Amino acid sequence: MALDSKKIEKIYSGKAVKHYDLPISHMFGKYKKKAFTDSSLKAGDKVIVFCCGTGLDFHEILKKTGKESKITGIDFSAEMLQKAQKRINKNNWRNIELIHADATKYKNESDNKFDVGICTLGISIIPDYKSAYYNLLSFVKEDGEIIIGDMQLASDWYARFNPFTIFLARRFGGSHEGHKNSLELCNIMQKELKEVKKKEFFLKSYFYCIGKK
Ligand SMILES: C[S@@+](CC[C@H](N)C(=O)[O-])C[C@H]1O[C@@H](n2cnc3c(N)ncnc32)[C@H](O)[C@@H]1O
Repeated sequence: MALDSKKIEKIYSGKAVKHYDLPISHMFGKYKKKAFTDSSLKAGDKVIVFCCGTGLDFHEILKKTGKESKITGIDFSAEMLQKAQKRINKNNWRNIELIHADATKYKNESDNKFDVGICTLGISIIPDYKSAYYNLLSFVKEDGEIIIGDMQLASDWYARFNPFTIFLARRFGGSHEGHKNSLELCNIMQKELKEVKKKEFFLKSYFYCIGKK
């Protein structure tokens, strides 16, 4: 599947919504947890989460940031946000707000910046992933942290598994182009951010990359 924003919107307003949480948390939950553990997330942080989806990451983020923190989740799917809101209500989380917006276009209108910017499993399905990334960066204060976790094209010996891992990701919008883009994004982060660390998992097809602005 070619990377196309309209197709992605269709996926996340349709079939993917109902059966999203279980396969995704099973496949990636432990890797995402590792990223948050290895990050500088701390009590009281102000965190912005692009492509927050159903809010699967909120629990792990809150374990590090606590009740006094503030989380802003952004997603362009009203259906995914509805599930996120249900999760928020069920857990009685009072410090999370959700915004229905496109991550490539939503602008930071205030001078009040965030300590940490997060995007998991978003970059690889956004055609204009660079706009989304630089937009996320614009919300984060100097010395703040960016945490990206996503599927990528594996390299070296592991490249033989790319068709398989892309196939697995396809029903959630995964594509060869998107997996290539997230690999490229890591290169950008490694060049432009400070103290960058990258770790790879699952046949090197999933990574997290963390760096400071
Ligand atoms: C694979 S889900 C990831 C959700 C969550 N981060 C997680 O890891 O479970 C991708 C999410 O990105 C959202 N998304 C894709 N493109 C977007 C865009 N341009 N702006 C905002 N949200 C977008 C989709 O609606 C979907 O909820």
